[in-house]
Amino acid sequence: MASSLRGRHFIDMKNLSRDEITAVLDHADEMKRDRNAVRKAAPMFGKTMAMIFQKPSLRTRVSFETGMTLMGGHAIYLSPNDISLGIRETIEDIAIVLSRFADVIMARVFGHDIVEGLAKYSRVPVINGLSDAEHPCQILADLQTIRERKHRLEGLTTAFIGDGNNVCVSMMYAGAIVGMNVAVACPAGYEPPQPATDECRAIAAKTGATIRIVREPADAVQNADAVYTDVWASMGQESEAAKRREAFRGFQVNMALMRQARPDAIVLHCLPAHYGEEIDYAATRSPNSAIFDEAENRMHAQNALVAMLCAD
Ligand code: CP
Ligand code: NVA
Repeated sequence: MASSLRGRHFIDMKNLSRDEITAVLDHADEMKRDRNAVRKAAPMFGKTMAMIFQKPSLRTRVSFETGMTLMGGHAIYLSPNDISLGIRETIEDIAIVLSRFADVIMARVFGHDIVEGLAKYSRVPVINGLSDAEHPCQILADLQTIRERKHRLEGLTTAFIGDGNNVCVSMMYAGAIVGMNVAVACPAGYEPPQPATDECRAIAAKTGATIRIVREPADAVQNADAVYTDVWASMGQESEAAKRREAFRGFQVNMALMRQARPDAIVLHCLPAHYGEEIDYAATRSPNSAIFDEAENRMHAQNALVAMLCAD
């Protein structure tokens, strides 16, 4: 399986098949079990990751950077001011130059076309560390977290409450691919893009999953094994924050909503959280909350992915 991922990009969740996702998650579990073994094996020894950031980050930067250190390699942080993507230099030239030095490129960008452009011109694997359209590395960590708690993915149901954003879209694709039902509750006008929903439903038809878009959070969480939420205004949408606070009123994950899910349903949030908006503090500190495992798993899931994409 490692050889099937070698040299590939990871831009969209759908870049990985169900078997490839399983292989990454299995490897991530193994790497999580024994950090010293990862340190000794040093699968990225002598290798460098170039990390391009157009947007802020805590988890993405730190998980990739510590992950590269643990695996015996090195990561270089390139801030928005360092390279001014597309302003100081073209995406094409940046990709060509970086791939002369680095063994893998990770990019957090606004337009999805930017990370696609980097992939087009890079000779080394390009990983999407969040774009306006998708956040697939987050979802690998989420799947690892759900599997840790529920010991499977197929046949489960994840409810996503809130904005049909990048995280929601990647979760819909992942659910469709692995056979996990996804129910999204969002206000009118904040649905995930229709082409993504249509494509996910077409994939889901083959794996037996259902992809539902509903209006009521209570409807989405019925029989849910995991209840997921994310901020109402994503990075780049700051000017819409007030309008969105109105539109998303009632779309909060709190203990009252969790009582309508399965009693063992876990709480997920990619973080950062806006407490009192999309999630209530109590829900994040309840015994069923997995949000900090989810954050930690960013590193393990990505380590597995990076080691497999960069295998010799
Ligand atoms: N979840 C996540 O991607 O966090 P950061 O924005 O802090 O990287
Ligand atoms: N949807 C959020 C996720 C942050 C990790 C954003 O894009 O800002």
